[in-house]
Amino acid sequence: MQWTWGQLCGIFLTAVVSLLLGIAIQLDNTPADNEDWNFRMAESADSNKASFQEKQQSAFVVGYTGEVGKELVKELATSNIFSKVTLLGRRVVEYEDEKLKSLEQKVVDFDKLDEYEDLFKDHDVGFCCLGTTRGKSGVEGFKKVDHDYVLKTAELAKKTGCQHFNLLTSVGANKNSSFLYPRTKGLVESEITDLDFSRLSIYRPSMLLCDRTESRPGEWVLKKLLSPVTYLAPTAISVPTSTVAKAMVNNCVAPPGDKKVEIFENKAIHQISGTLKKK
Ligand SMILES: NC(=O)c1ccc[n+]([C@@H]2O[C@H](COP(=O)([O-])OP(=O)(O)OC[C@H]3O[C@@H](n4cnc5c(N)ncnc54)[C@H](OP(=O)(O)O)[C@@H]3O)[C@@H](O)[C@H]2O)c1
Repeated sequence: MQWTWGQLCGIFLTAVVSLLLGIAIQLDNTPADNEDWNFRMAESADSNKASFQEKQQSAFVVGYTGEVGKELVKELATSNIFSKVTLLGRRVVEYEDEKLKSLEQKVVDFDKLDEYEDLFKDHDVGFCCLGTTRGKSGVEGFKKVDHDYVLKTAELAKKTGCQHFNLLTSVGANKNSSFLYPRTKGLVESEITDLDFSRLSIYRPSMLLCDRTESRPGEWVLKKLLSPVTYLAPTAISVPTSTVAKAMVNNCVAPPGDKKVEIFENKAIHQISGTLKKK
């Protein structure tokens, strides 16, 4: 029997998708670090939020106009866990929701962030959801945003007394990687760790799921192709932006663990968020 090119391509694609699915399902079933602790954080989120609120702390958010940042701002506004939330960004957003309108927005020039040191003062907690892509900003632009702006934000936060810094990076962050993206993320994680915050929480999500405002055709195609995998193995290679935001808030209100630096990989993010049921 002779195979046609079409049949061979079909067999090849089926084999690749099956292999990917197999790996993803295996990943989905692999336990995360500290699973019990993660699920307990999710279960106690409501009571933790109530006791945290009594502390009357304040927080700032950078990158609040991005996909994760937007969800985080919604979580912060609805949970009302801080007495004050300051949003620091390069542009002002018109909110329709009354709860969001009460958040203070300050416009800063990230190239001259030192000049805005005063805006960082009096915030106990910092959230950083900044980021761009190489495609949008080029190599130097990517490094400037994902490394320089992020590090400068953390330095100013530390200098002005922030106690708990929450840093969003990415799966695979590794300062020794030969690839630009994971190397930049890993480098900034390492340099911010060296700042020695009382508490540093690093979130490393995999592919973010959301209806992205900005057009990113490559990312869109990849998500469509991987949709069977994200459906069948939901914690393996993806996470909705709303889940990341919930995890950041649930972790923030939880009493600190015994480590000053906490790293949450994709599956742990799902568990802490409360969106994943314990098996
Ligand atoms: N895409 C993924 O699947 C994925 C997966 C894992 C991790 N991550 C990482 O997760 C983080 C958040 O991702 P996201 O998709 O929520 O990001 P996003 O939607 O692209 O938003 C990025 C934020 O950074 C700000 N920003 C970008 N360039 C800037 C500049 N030159 N000056 C000042 N602000 C600037 C944006 O402000 P404007 O709104 O004003 O542009 C926005 O607030 C990023 O660090 C990303 O690398 C992404």
